[in-house]
Order: sequence, then C-alpha cells, then structure tokens
Amino acid sequence: MLKENGLAPAVAMPAQSSDCGQTAKIRLANENDLVSIARFDEMGGCRQQEIADACCMVAERKGEPVAYVSFQPVGLLGQPLLTYLCVAPAARRRGLGRKLIEAIQQTARGRMLLSSTEDWCVASQKIFTSLGWRKIGELTGVNKDGSTEYFYAIDLHQKG
Ligand SMILES: CC(C)(COP(=O)(O)OP(=O)(O)OC[C@H]1O[C@@H](n2cnc3c(N)ncnc32)[C@H](O)[C@@H]1OP(=O)(O)O)[C@@H](O)C(=O)NCCC(=O)NCCS
Repeated sequence: MLKENGLAPAVAMPAQSSDCGQTAKIRLANENDLVSIARFDEMGGCRQQEIADACCMVAERKGEPVAYVSFQPVGLLGQPLLTYLCVAPAARRRGLGRKLIEAIQQTARGRMLLSSTEDWCVASQKIFTSLGWRKIGELTGVNKDGSTEYFYAIDLHQKG
C-alpha cells in the first residue's frame, strides 16, 4: 500500500543503540515534535511541511526527539530524495543517523533512493557506504562554503 506521498507507510520501529543498551524509537514525526527538532536542527528551514506531508521521521529517546530525517517523495529525477538528516550533538555516534536512513530505505523500497552530502561530512559518507549506497557523482565547489557535494544512490527495487 502506498501513502499519499507515494511511498510505503512509515513504520515505527525500535532501534537498539550502543549506549548502554538504551533503545531509541524511530517513528513518523508529528507537529508536536517541531519544538524539539528546532532545538538541535542544524539544517536550514523548518520541518513543518515535511511533517505535514508525512515525510519526516524522528528517533525518540526517553520520549523526546533527538534526531530526524526527511525526504521528498519525488525529489530528484522522479526519484525519492533524502533531504535532511540531523542528530542532536549529545546523541551522535550511537547509530541513530544510520537507523534513520535505514528507516527511510524501508519507506522508499521499490524505488531508487537518492541523497547528497558535503565532501567534509565523513559520517554521512560512512553511513551511505556501509548501507550499500554508491556514489553517483559530485558537483565540485558548489556549496556556499566552497565544498563539493557528493551524490549517492541506492537501488531498493530488489530489497525488502
Ligand atoms: C552526520 C550525522 C547525521 C551522523 O549521525 P550519527 O548518529 O552521529 O551517525 P552514526 O552514529 O550512525 O555513525 C555512522 C558512522 O559514522 C561515523 N561517524 C559519526 N560521526 C563521525 C565524525 N564526526 N567523524 C567521523 N566519523 C563519524 C561513526 O563512527 C559510524 O561509523 P562506523 O559505522 O564505522 O562505526 C550527525 O553527525 C549530524 O547530525 N551532524 C550535523 C548535521 C549534518 O551534518 N547532517 C548531514 C548533512 S548531509
């Protein structure tokens, strides 16, 4: 079944992380999460529209969102595009970034999922590579800070 956004329904799932066995819950974001997200969001803009479109998921710890990922169902070349990913500083390096990208992969199964990241963002590149994404190109020096944007894709037609 496809949702209004054209992708499979997002499913809440527990994500076992490595910090003393604490569990983070991955779920679809809702309007009540906006304030919490704004506290740690380093990306531009506001997540209100993505949440309204059911295109944003959060990782929740102790009832509080500590990370989110968002996507556009038809973001680039007709394919879904993972647009923003941000983990609160205190919750980083515990696997939440990876878990959120895995959650979007579930939602985008049957499609080619695309994303991009700056050349200096080693963590994102590590996550993409370890999950089987391939680098499909780059735009040299395109970012405001002069960095190069790397583009990645994963073909989810055969998976899940
Ligand atoms: C990038 C970001 C989302 C990663 O989230 P995270 O939850 O810390 O990542 P994970 O814990 O899933 O780590 C994934 C991998 O990256 C590695 N990693 C995480 N932070 C790293 C860093 N600063 N430098 C190098 N490697 C790093 C982890 O060790 C792990 O590698 P491994 O699989 O070899 O162990 C997070 O650092 C963040 O929100 N940064 C600010 C916003 C941002 O840059 N977003 C991405 C823009 S495209």
